[in-house]
Amino acid sequence: MNEWCVLGPLADLEQEAGKRYDIGEERIAVFLIGDDVYAIGDRCSHAEASLAEGELFDTEVECPRHGSSFDITTGIPHSLPATTPVPTYEVRVTDGVMEARLKDPV
Ligand code: FES
Repeated sequence: MNEWCVLGPLADLEQEAGKRYDIGEERIAVFLIGDDVYAIGDRCSHAEASLAEGELFDTEVECPRHGSSFDITTGIPHSLPATTPVPTYEVRVTDGVMEARLKDPV
């Protein structure tokens, strides 16, 4: 799998807030900051939590369960207890519709 999958209308996003999309087995957290759209794995790498429900501070989202901060541009956690990055996804917007590129697991 290395394909573009439709997420939904860009208009569904709110500024500086996360929204979760389920695409098959993938859970993707999407964030809108200004005109930029960022997509990362929604499942926190520490335990079960939705990063789309976390609070955004600039380009870092704070996990709502134990507070690890993940850089939404890289997926890298910058604070404990999470130590493993979450995936990032390329996003494109065509005629107001967002698509994410799903990659094969590495
Ligand atoms: S579940 Fe996210 S930091 Fe623990």
